Amino acid sequence: MDRTFVMVKPDGVARGLIGEVITRLEQKGLKLVAARLERLPEKRVMEQYREHLEKPFFPSLRHYIESGPCFLMVWEGRDAAAVVRRIVGATNPAEAAPGTIRGDLAMDIGRNVIHASDSPASAAREIAIHFPATEIVTYKRVDEPVLYE
Ligand code: RTP
Ligand code: MG
Repeated sequence: MDRTFVMVKPDGVARGLIGEVITRLEQKGLKLVAARLERLPEKRVMEQYREHLEKPFFPSLRHYIESGPCFLMVWEGRDAAAVVRRIVGATNPAEAAPGTIRGDLAMDIGRNVIHASDSPASAAREIAIHFPATEIVTYKRVDEPVLYE
């Protein structure tokens, strides 16, 4: 099965949206295999967002991500990265489709509630930044036999 990295950002944690995000991903049929609530240290913020280090919005992005605790997760399922990105919606919540997390729950690109890896390669890289292999668990969901053909 494929894995992806998902993170409720500090605005989402402060607004009490952790449960809403987990519910949406669980009900889709994805399986939660790791989770941790923490304030991200500077080093891991830089690694997580290294593609954006030179962008004009990076200082405000970094300030936002370091402003409070984040809720970090690894989710498992077929095509997990692509499936979760569709559930998350467009980067700018003002343009994100209704039904998506950002479309339903956010207003501003600088406060868009959630991060999700944008490809299987990014997922592997980001999971390794935040979770040692020993923190990723293995178990069966009872609905697995009916979720997939
Ligand atoms: P993420 O990495 O957080 O899942 O978001 P994304 O792929 O949809 O968007 P990305 O281009 O990777 O941007 C990362 C985060 O930086 C902030 N951002 N602000 N003010 C701006 O123009 C701007 N552009 C991006 C957002 O928090 C975005 O999620
Ligand atoms: Mg991104």
